[in-house]
Amino acid sequence: MNHIYPIFERMLPREEKEELLGQRGLMVWFTGLSGSGKSTIAIALERELHRRGILCRILDGDNIRTGINSNLGFTAEDRVENIRRIAEVAKLFVDTGIVTIAAFISPGREIREMAADIIGRKDFLEIYVSTPLEECERRDVKGLYAKARRGEIQHFTGISAPFEAPASPALAIDTSVTSLEESVESLLQLVLPHIQKKQR
Ligand code: ADX
Repeated sequence: MNHIYPIFERMLPREEKEELLGQRGLMVWFTGLSGSGKSTIAIALERELHRRGILCRILDGDNIRTGINSNLGFTAEDRVENIRRIAEVAKLFVDTGIVTIAAFISPGREIREMAADIIGRKDFLEIYVSTPLEECERRDVKGLYAKARRGEIQHFTGISAPFEAPASPALAIDTSVTSLEESVESLLQLVLPHIQKKQR
């Protein structure tokens, strides 16, 4: 049988890229309310991993909702599409051997299941940033909770749109009781064994 593509045109497999980088690709998926601390932890984790020679890529609202997903809002339908595209992009990074860190509310169990299915469950670590709503609202870093309470923002997660906590996350971090340093330390213990290639 003739192949459409000759063998020299076939793409290099993930394993060869992981070999080149000396690490394994992994998805570290943060879920939690707005203002719970997802991005702060993601950034600190990336720095610590980078310091250890591990190549990472953060995906969060700043680089996704302003770019590839700039046409999406916050209806239930748009959130599914937001997460679907993010998961497809994340998969490309994970398949390149990169430790990919996503920080999105991703408010529903189904939405997160979809992401895990797209990326591949064996590469997917779900981290729940479980900071309580009262604390997120007290912080109100972006002033959005106040606006949501005044009815100026519709479908606001935790106020006028639902958030379903993960049933069995790999790790839960409540930033109202856990310091950033402690959070990153727990994460390193969890993720490093998945990333490091066995010494030969
Ligand atoms: S998700 O639900 O689709 O996963 P995502 O993480 O991309 O949400 O975006 C959440 C961020 O968008 C919040 O941290 C907040 O800054 C902003 N935002 C604006 N409107 C809303 C809303 N209605 N609900 C939640 N977050 C909103």
